[in-house]
Amino acid sequence: MKNTRIILPLVLLLAIFGNGQTTGIIPQPLQVVAEEGKYTITPSTIIIADSANKENADYLQELLKVEHQKELKIKRRGGKGIILNHNPQLTQKLGEEGYTLMVDNSSISISAGTTTGVFYGIMSLRQLLGIDNVNKKEKLSIAGISIEDSPRFKWRAFMLDEGRYFKGTEQVKKLLDEMALLKMNVFHWHLTDDQGWRLEIKKYPKLTQLGSTRSNSQIGGWDSEERSNTPHSGYYTQEQVKEIIAYAKERQITIIPEIEMPGHASAAIAAYPWLGTIGELKAVPTVFGKLPDSFNVSDPRVYEFLENVLKEVMELFPSNIIHIGGDEVKFDSWKSSEEIQNYMNKNGLASPADLHVFFTNRISNYLNKNGHRMMGWNEILGENVHEWQDASDMEVKENLAQNTLVHFWKGNLDLVSKAVQDGYEIVNSHHEYSYLDYSFKSIPLEKAYSFDPIPEGLAESFQHKIIGSGCQMWGEWIPEAIDMDRMIFPRIAAYAEVGWTSKTRKDYGVFRSNLDRLLSRWRSQGISLPAKFEKVNFEE
Ligand code: ACM
Repeated sequence: MKNTRIILPLVLLLAIFGNGQTTGIIPQPLQVVAEEGKYTITPSTIIIADSANKENADYLQELLKVEHQKELKIKRRGGKGIILNHNPQLTQKLGEEGYTLMVDNSSISISAGTTTGVFYGIMSLRQLLGIDNVNKKEKLSIAGISIEDSPRFKWRAFMLDEGRYFKGTEQVKKLLDEMALLKMNVFHWHLTDDQGWRLEIKKYPKLTQLGSTRSNSQIGGWDSEERSNTPHSGYYTQEQVKEIIAYAKERQITIIPEIEMPGHASAAIAAYPWLGTIGELKAVPTVFGKLPDSFNVSDPRVYEFLENVLKEVMELFPSNIIHIGGDEVKFDSWKSSEEIQNYMNKNGLASPADLHVFFTNRISNYLNKNGHRMMGWNEILGENVHEWQDASDMEVKENLAQNTLVHFWKGNLDLVSKAVQDGYEIVNSHHEYSYLDYSFKSIPLEKAYSFDPIPEGLAESFQHKIIGSGCQMWGEWIPEAIDMDRMIFPRIAAYAEVGWTSKTRKDYGVFRSNLDRLLSRWRSQGISLPAKFEKVNFEE
């Protein structure tokens, strides 16, 4: 008798997948316990889904068919099999995205307070069943397990820059598929920039007729004189965007469109030169970097244009958050414009940075009036984060609208602390950790993994203001999807874990061994990986 008191808890402890143990699931779930028994999916296994989970059941059915050649029937209730269960009470315990997944001899059971949670349970099940399309077994079995899971952050984003190079629907869908598997829930779509406007706007057809094509492209780096000597073009019609939105929605992914203003706007200015402050652009620029012209924010016609564009964007995208960019505005064109100077005087604005915040607030106000919320890169706070910015241009009296979602990417981390203390919510995309266009030398996998969206030392009472993180695939130097994949994979998996996995469960060693299955999946799908990840069992 004496001994069982010691032995029982010991057995229990061993059964828990504590820190340091692999589950095969990325991102690492919150709590995993090994259970007795195993469940085998056979052709007669049934998917049992309540009415709330009809779409989830269809999705699971399709996955099992495509990934495991198992064609299962779906039933609304009763019996044993793979059970998808909507239980609103679980929301209290596990939040909007949490789920439980239990496997024993008689069934696989996924429960959640929301259909999103059930979807994430399916994504974990998918990883337990095997996702690599190799070593396919006739028998599809998984060992008994009990998982209780919910994310650390509600915003887990991947950003794709198509302003620089258009990639197209197929590549976007592929990325959405991998995001879903990794439980990433925000596709931040950078659709406009100096070198291209990629979204059909019906009221302003020249944006895509002219703004989506450039005659040539700088290649070889920022100061390079080398050119591709080939034109580049491409854009999405609103119909194509609707198809992509629906595809993302099926995968529980919200698309946040980014329409850059007032800088990074040369493609729009080339299409409609009256939008610009200098306004001399005749064609979409062929070089990258920070270009001199910005929207003429003193001209009522420019506000009318932006409001009309945003109206179509709001009608098209279901998200109630719209990203307006706002980064890297070069102030010289505003400083040398009499019209802008008069406008600043009339509105009592102290500097170009003050004008930038003033402009941003007007746009925020317009979005708010239409039931939307603005998001922008952290320059919209009016802080100087660039070595090339003149300090005398930075006197700011305006306050950025309170409900703005601030997207931190650059500057001292104190700016994050200050912003949250000033009441703003933050998505942290600190470039030194989360830019996928940076080489593996500057952001190796382990550094990507180590990213903590909550800056060290931030008081606990403010930590809830950091709603999550993003990783960003900027596109200046990657015309081809194959090269882009090599930058994204496998670091995207590290960022998925940054966004989802609780700090106590984060462990690079565990992540690294769980990653093997994903690497194998990506290889078998023909997704290009960095050379050292192309090999099986490489030494890092
Ligand atoms: C940025 O990287 N310009 C946001």
